[in-house]
Amino acid sequence: MHTESRGVSPEAPVIPRLRGVLEGIPTYKPGKPAAAGDGPVTYKLSSNENPYPPLPGVMESVRSAAESFHRYPDMACSALTAELSERFDVPATHLATGTGSVGVAQQLLQATAGPGDEVIYGWRSFEAYPILTQISGASSVQVPLTEDERHDLDAMAAAVTGRTRLVFVCNPNNPTGTAVRREELERFLDRVPSDVLVVLDEAYREFIRDAEVPDGLEIYRDRPNVCVLRTFSKAYGLAGLRVGFAVAHEPVAAALRKTAVPFGVSQLAQDAAVASLRSEDALLERVSALVAERARVSGALSAQGWSVPESQANFVWLRLGERTSEFAAACERAGVVVRPFPGEGVRITIGEPEANDLLLEAAEAFRKEL
Ligand SMILES: Cc1ncc(COP(=O)(O)O)c(C=O)c1O
Repeated sequence: MHTESRGVSPEAPVIPRLRGVLEGIPTYKPGKPAAAGDGPVTYKLSSNENPYPPLPGVMESVRSAAESFHRYPDMACSALTAELSERFDVPATHLATGTGSVGVAQQLLQATAGPGDEVIYGWRSFEAYPILTQISGASSVQVPLTEDERHDLDAMAAAVTGRTRLVFVCNPNNPTGTAVRREELERFLDRVPSDVLVVLDEAYREFIRDAEVPDGLEIYRDRPNVCVLRTFSKAYGLAGLRVGFAVAHEPVAAALRKTAVPFGVSQLAQDAAVASLRSEDALLERVSALVAERARVSGALSAQGWSVPESQANFVWLRLGERTSEFAAACERAGVVVRPFPGEGVRITIGEPEANDLLLEAAEAFRKEL
């Protein structure tokens, strides 16, 4: 037998050697789907998705791209890169695309960090950061959010060491919705050494209404160690197609193109992203409607007595501590699925008005029983 020929006892099966860093890695928990079947309608408010269906023009571009999916996509994402370059007034050489912004975040880590290196981010923040960091072999340095659920940029700057390779600043922060303002961000960036890459993860950029929150694209222009991450998954409603991008100075953008999965971004995704950029007015109108719903939901929750951090994203955060899972279960019984972080709090995506109404009713009933 093969195992015997290698001198291994038959009881001890030989398994391929896997990288030790994979041990104990947290698994990414996707938002729970809404219940299917003949029961009452339930709504998914657990993944920060856009509740609106694709716009007709975007749908047509996907249908037409589907005619050719026996072919590989354009590996360089040329049309999308050209469109982004024009839309954001950045050189094409400063752009890199990937399979969602989480794909680009993985490319960033592959390009910057490995065993012995450190990656800093606020915590709690986007749950992919610890997973991707651990896979890279680098160590996570998690800097707790402040009492009011915001990034503690002074503590993050103080956490930088000679081993730091990358810092994520999630702006606005997932799951708390809080955003970092211009002055504090500039002060932080002035303190971070120029050989440490700072990634401004702006997955929810289009939902920001606070004029004091800077656009990362203004900040990156004279800071070669700043990279801006954006996605088509949220405001643009293309979550299922997987396309995101980074804007960074040439050496970083070039490194991201090197670490990209070849042909990762499908032609459907590329064409839909281009069509979305060309339908931006219609898409941003939908974003405005969601922002209005965010104000309505936040206001109603506050009026019920909840403490709601000011959100600049398409979700709100309730710190419920030990009652988190109970609250999530109560919402589910009422027909809305939210995203619990057990022991900490619940993130509630702003959805269609009917879904938000159900959520508000459930929250009110729960509040009365507290
Ligand atoms: C802060 C943040 N960054 C990145 C992403 C990844 O989005 P995608 O990979 O769909 O672009 C998410 C998704 O939830 C997010 O919340």
